[in-house]
Amino acid sequence: MSGAADTGDGTSAAEDGTTVVGLRGVTKEYAGGVTALRGVDLTVREGELLAIVGPSGSGKSTLLHIVGTLDRPTAGTVHIAGHDVAALNDRRLSALRAQHVGFVFQAFHLVPGVSARDNVAEGLLYSGLPRSVRRRKAAEALDRVGLADRLHHKPHQLSGGQKQRVAIARAVVGEPALLLADEPTGALDSASGAAVMELLRDLNREGATIAVITHDTEIAGSLPREVRIRDGEVVADVRNPSSAPSSVPSSVPSMAAGAEL
Ligand SMILES: Nc1ncnc2c1ncn2[C@@H]1O[C@H](COP(=O)(O)OP(=O)(O)OP(=O)(O)O)[C@@H](O)[C@H]1O
Ligand SMILES: [Mg+2]
Repeated sequence: MSGAADTGDGTSAAEDGTTVVGLRGVTKEYAGGVTALRGVDLTVREGELLAIVGPSGSGKSTLLHIVGTLDRPTAGTVHIAGHDVAALNDRRLSALRAQHVGFVFQAFHLVPGVSARDNVAEGLLYSGLPRSVRRRKAAEALDRVGLADRLHHKPHQLSGGQKQRVAIARAVVGEPALLLADEPTGALDSASGAAVMELLRDLNREGATIAVITHDTEIAGSLPREVRIRDGEVVADVRNPSSAPSSVPSSVPSMAAGAEL
């Protein structure tokens, strides 16, 4: 896989080791003539916890798909964990995604009929680790999200909040450089939603870099950084002084440092 040094385009995003996401002038036009993103610049550094907030149709999910390398921009450059996405073919892009990005979606997307542990172990499918190690790490990740006693439960036997915690465990079990969450609390009652947000904060305190899409301005305002999008453009990028700094190392071992979850 090509590294940061050989992208040759001179952007600082590619060269700065602490930059996890570097978007420059990213535009996305869908077939049918919708321009969902218009010249978006966005830099996310290691250890950040940020909200991406904006009205319905403003381009939040499109942005998340491009940052997560699920989709490519029409114009502009995307660097993820030092890699220029444009330089990678689809196979290498899949490998980059599997290695560096974890996803959490509003609708959980767990595999039905499969235990919580095996759902989480799926997050390590492309890791090259033997099945026994994947299963052990999955159990550890479930313990980390407070579900040590639900290893063998199947999705239909779990509450909404528990399902989302399983999905978060699956997203972080491989210790990705970046965790992307699209409306992770959107399908949850307010108590479960608050618990999921608290879990994301905990993971961030331990070193995870996290971007959370939300409609909820209260959630957005409670996070250390808030990127506001309207009509495909970043209209504000603010630091919220009231929230705890996200990148201060705690005494807990950092995921970024390769510690066990
Ligand atoms: N696959 C697609 N093909 C064509 N147009 C699309 C496609 N996906 C999204 N769009 C359009 O792009 C714009 C941005 O969509 P996007 O899903 O990014 O918005 P959003 O901010 O995530 O909205 P919501 O809060 O409702 O989830 C919308 O106008 C949408 O209709
Ligand atoms: Mg969306």
